[in-house]
Amino acid sequence: MEDPQGLRLLGDTPKAVSRRRFIQGVIAGGAAVSSAAYLFRSSAVHGARDSGERLITISVNGPRRVDVMKQETLAWTLRYKLGLTGTKLGCDRAECGACTVLLDDVPHYSCSVLTHTVRDQKVLTIEGLANEDGTLHPIQRGIIDEQGFQCTFCMSGFIMAAVGFLKINPNPTRGELAHGISGNLCRCQDYDKILTTLMRGAENMREVNHVYPG
Ligand code: FES
Ligand code: FES
Repeated sequence: MEDPQGLRLLGDTPKAVSRRRFIQGVIAGGAAVSSAAYLFRSSAVHGARDSGERLITISVNGPRRVDVMKQETLAWTLRYKLGLTGTKLGCDRAECGACTVLLDDVPHYSCSVLTHTVRDQKVLTIEGLANEDGTLHPIQRGIIDEQGFQCTFCMSGFIMAAVGFLKINPNPTRGELAHGISGNLCRCQDYDKILTTLMRGAENMREVNHVYPG
Protein backbone atom coordinates (compact mmCIF):
# COMPACT_ATOMS: atom_id res chain seq x y z
CA MET A 1 0.00 0.00 0.00
CA GLU A 2 1.29 3.48 -0.84
CA ASP A 3 0.56 6.89 0.61
CA PRO A 4 -0.63 9.80 -1.62
CA GLN A 5 2.95 10.87 -2.40
CA GLY A 6 3.84 7.38 -3.54
CA LEU A 7 6.04 6.70 -0.52
CA ARG A 8 6.07 3.17 0.87
CA LEU A 9 4.45 2.89 4.25
CA LEU A 10 6.32 1.26 7.11
CA GLY A 11 3.95 -1.67 7.20
CA ASP A 12 4.94 -2.54 3.65
CA THR A 13 8.57 -3.21 4.53
CA PRO A 14 9.35 -6.60 3.01
CA LYS A 15 9.65 -9.28 5.65
CA ALA A 16 12.66 -10.59 3.75
CA VAL A 17 14.65 -7.59 5.01
CA SER A 18 15.55 -9.34 8.23
CA ARG A 19 17.38 -7.84 11.17
CA ARG A 20 20.41 -10.00 10.35
CA ARG A 21 20.58 -8.62 6.81
CA PHE A 22 20.11 -5.08 8.08
CA ILE A 23 23.05 -5.39 10.48
CA GLN A 24 25.21 -7.07 7.85
CA GLY A 25 24.51 -4.23 5.46
CA VAL A 26 25.48 -1.60 7.98
CA ILE A 27 28.64 -3.44 8.99
CA ALA A 28 29.85 -4.16 5.49
CA GLY A 29 28.99 -0.90 3.85
CA GLY A 30 29.10 1.64 6.67
CA ALA A 31 25.61 2.52 5.47
CA ALA A 32 24.71 6.13 6.05
CA VAL A 33 22.14 6.85 8.74
CA SER A 34 21.91 10.30 7.29
CA SER A 35 19.56 13.00 8.46
CA ALA A 36 18.27 16.17 6.91
CA ALA A 37 20.60 18.08 9.20
CA TYR A 38 23.62 16.21 7.87
CA LEU A 39 22.63 16.86 4.30
CA PHE A 40 22.17 20.53 5.08
CA ARG A 41 25.58 20.72 6.71
CA SER A 42 27.16 18.87 3.83
CA SER A 43 25.88 21.41 1.34
CA ALA A 44 27.15 24.16 3.62
CA VAL A 45 30.64 22.65 3.36
CA HIS A 46 30.50 22.52 -0.41
CA GLY A 47 29.58 26.17 -0.37
CA ALA A 48 32.67 26.89 1.68
CA ARG A 49 35.20 25.37 -0.69
CA ASP A 50 36.85 28.71 -1.37
CA SER A 51 37.38 29.57 2.28
CA GLY A 52 41.01 28.60 2.74
CA GLU A 53 41.08 24.92 1.82
CA ARG A 54 44.45 23.28 1.22
CA LEU A 55 45.15 20.06 -0.61
CA ILE A 56 46.91 17.64 1.75
CA THR A 57 47.75 13.93 1.81
CA ILE A 58 46.48 11.87 4.69
CA SER A 59 46.34 8.15 5.33
CA VAL A 60 42.75 7.03 5.80
CA ASN A 61 42.59 3.29 5.17
CA GLY A 62 45.40 4.08 2.71
CA PRO A 63 46.76 7.31 1.18
CA ARG A 64 44.29 10.00 0.09
CA ARG A 65 44.50 13.52 -1.26
CA VAL A 66 41.85 15.86 0.05
CA ASP A 67 41.12 19.58 0.34
CA VAL A 68 40.71 20.61 3.99
CA MET A 69 40.14 23.83 5.85
CA LYS A 70 42.48 24.53 8.72
CA GLN A 71 39.62 24.40 11.27
CA GLU A 72 38.12 21.23 9.77
CA THR A 73 37.64 18.21 12.01
CA LEU A 74 38.58 14.72 10.96
CA ALA A 75 34.98 13.54 11.34
CA TRP A 76 33.90 16.24 8.90
CA THR A 77 36.57 15.32 6.38
CA LEU A 78 35.74 11.64 6.61
CA ARG A 79 32.02 12.07 6.16
CA TYR A 80 31.65 15.07 3.88
CA LYS A 81 34.87 15.13 1.85
CA LEU A 82 35.75 11.44 1.59
CA GLY A 83 32.24 10.00 1.78
CA LEU A 84 33.15 7.64 4.63
CA THR A 85 29.81 7.86 6.36
CA GLY A 86 30.37 4.77 8.49
CA THR A 87 31.88 7.17 11.02
CA LYS A 88 28.89 8.77 12.71
CA LEU A 89 28.47 12.21 14.21
CA GLY A 90 26.37 12.22 17.37
CA CYS A 91 27.23 14.98 19.80
CA ASP A 92 30.09 16.57 17.77
CA ARG A 93 31.68 17.55 21.10
CA ALA A 94 33.69 14.59 22.43
CA GLU A 95 30.94 13.08 24.55
CA CYS A 96 29.35 10.10 22.79
CA GLY A 97 32.07 8.22 20.91
CA ALA A 98 29.98 7.70 17.76
CA CYS A 99 32.80 9.20 15.69
CA THR A 100 35.58 6.96 17.09
CA VAL A 101 38.36 6.02 14.68
CA LEU A 102 41.86 4.67 15.26
CA LEU A 103 44.89 6.96 14.94
CA ASP A 104 47.99 4.75 14.86
CA ASP A 105 45.88 2.01 16.50
CA VAL A 106 44.64 4.24 19.34
CA PRO A 107 40.93 5.16 19.54
CA HIS A 108 40.16 8.88 19.15
CA TYR A 109 37.02 10.98 18.80
CA SER A 110 37.34 12.20 15.23
CA CYS A 111 34.97 15.09 15.93
CA SER A 112 37.65 16.55 18.20
CA VAL A 113 40.72 16.10 16.01
CA LEU A 114 41.71 18.61 13.36
CA THR A 115 42.36 16.90 10.05
CA HIS A 116 45.60 18.70 9.29
CA THR A 117 47.11 17.33 12.54
CA VAL A 118 46.88 13.70 11.42
CA ARG A 119 49.12 13.95 8.37
CA ASP A 120 51.78 11.77 10.02
CA GLN A 121 49.38 9.20 11.42
CA LYS A 122 47.46 6.25 10.05
CA VAL A 123 43.71 6.72 10.32
CA LEU A 124 41.60 3.56 10.34
CA THR A 125 37.84 3.86 9.97
CA ILE A 126 35.13 1.23 9.99
CA GLU A 127 35.33 1.03 6.20
CA GLY A 128 38.95 -0.12 6.41
CA LEU A 129 38.41 -2.84 8.98
CA ALA A 130 37.37 -5.76 6.79
CA ASN A 131 39.91 -7.48 4.54
CA GLU A 132 40.12 -6.40 0.93
CA ASP A 133 38.46 -9.67 -0.09
CA GLY A 134 35.45 -8.70 2.03
CA THR A 135 36.19 -11.00 4.96
CA LEU A 136 34.83 -9.26 8.02
CA HIS A 137 36.99 -8.39 11.02
CA PRO A 138 36.51 -10.82 13.95
CA ILE A 139 34.75 -8.10 15.95
CA GLN A 140 32.32 -7.51 13.09
CA ARG A 141 31.67 -11.24 12.91
CA GLY A 142 30.95 -11.25 16.63
CA ILE A 143 28.20 -8.70 16.08
CA ILE A 144 26.56 -10.83 13.43
CA ASP A 145 26.97 -13.94 15.58
CA GLU A 146 25.28 -12.31 18.58
CA GLN A 147 22.87 -10.00 16.74
CA GLY A 148 24.06 -7.07 18.81
CA PHE A 149 22.92 -3.43 18.66
CA GLN A 150 19.45 -2.06 18.13
CA CYS A 151 19.46 0.91 15.75
CA THR A 152 23.23 0.53 15.06
CA PHE A 153 23.94 4.27 15.10
CA CYS A 154 26.60 3.84 17.79
CA MET A 155 27.96 0.60 16.35
CA SER A 156 30.91 1.88 14.30
CA GLY A 157 32.24 3.82 17.26
CA PHE A 158 31.93 0.84 19.61
CA ILE A 159 33.64 -1.45 17.11
CA MET A 160 36.59 0.89 16.62
CA ALA A 161 36.92 1.48 20.36
CA ALA A 162 36.89 -2.28 20.99
CA VAL A 163 39.42 -2.99 18.25
CA GLY A 164 41.75 -0.41 19.77
CA PHE A 165 41.28 -1.70 23.31
CA LEU A 166 41.80 -5.34 22.35
CA LYS A 167 45.16 -4.49 20.84
CA ILE A 168 46.45 -3.76 24.34
CA ASN A 169 44.32 -6.31 26.19
CA PRO A 170 43.34 -9.21 23.92
CA ASN A 171 41.91 -11.32 26.72
CA PRO A 172 39.81 -8.99 28.88
CA THR A 173 37.24 -9.85 31.48
CA ARG A 174 33.77 -8.53 30.82
CA GLY A 175 34.41 -5.77 33.35
CA GLU A 176 37.72 -4.80 31.75
CA LEU A 177 36.15 -4.59 28.32
CA ALA A 178 33.27 -2.52 29.72
CA HIS A 179 35.82 -0.12 31.17
CA GLY A 180 37.79 -0.10 27.92
CA ILE A 181 34.82 1.04 25.85
CA SER A 182 33.30 3.31 28.50
CA GLY A 183 33.95 6.38 26.36
CA ASN A 184 31.17 5.28 24.01
CA LEU A 185 27.47 5.85 24.61
CA CYS A 186 24.46 4.02 23.20
CA ARG A 187 21.25 5.99 22.96
CA CYS A 188 19.29 2.74 22.84
CA GLN A 189 20.97 1.77 26.13
CA ASP A 190 21.72 -1.69 24.79
CA TYR A 191 24.89 -2.01 26.83
CA ASP A 192 24.53 -5.56 28.08
CA LYS A 193 23.98 -6.91 24.57
CA ILE A 194 26.78 -4.77 23.19
CA LEU A 195 29.19 -6.17 25.75
CA THR A 196 28.13 -9.74 24.97
CA THR A 197 28.64 -9.03 21.30
CA LEU A 198 32.08 -7.50 21.75
CA MET A 199 33.19 -10.29 24.12
CA ARG A 200 32.26 -12.72 21.32
CA GLY A 201 34.29 -10.58 18.93
CA ALA A 202 37.26 -10.69 21.32
CA GLU A 203 36.98 -14.47 21.38
CA ASN A 204 36.95 -14.50 17.56
CA MET A 205 40.07 -12.33 17.55
CA ARG A 206 41.91 -14.65 19.90
CA GLU A 207 41.10 -17.59 17.64
CA VAL A 208 42.35 -15.75 14.57
CA ASN A 209 45.52 -14.56 16.32
CA HIS A 210 46.05 -17.86 18.18
CA VAL A 211 45.99 -16.13 21.55
CA TYR A 212 44.98 -18.49 24.33
CA PRO A 213 44.25 -17.64 27.98
CA GLY A 214 47.28 -18.46 30.15
S1 FES B 1 30.36 12.79 17.72
FE1 FES B 1 32.40 12.70 18.43
S2 FES B 1 32.24 12.10 20.50
FE2 FES B 1 30.17 12.38 19.86
S1 FES C 1 22.09 0.71 19.26
FE1 FES C 1 21.03 2.59 18.97
S2 FES C 1 22.41 4.10 19.70
FE2 FES C 1 23.34 2.23 20.21
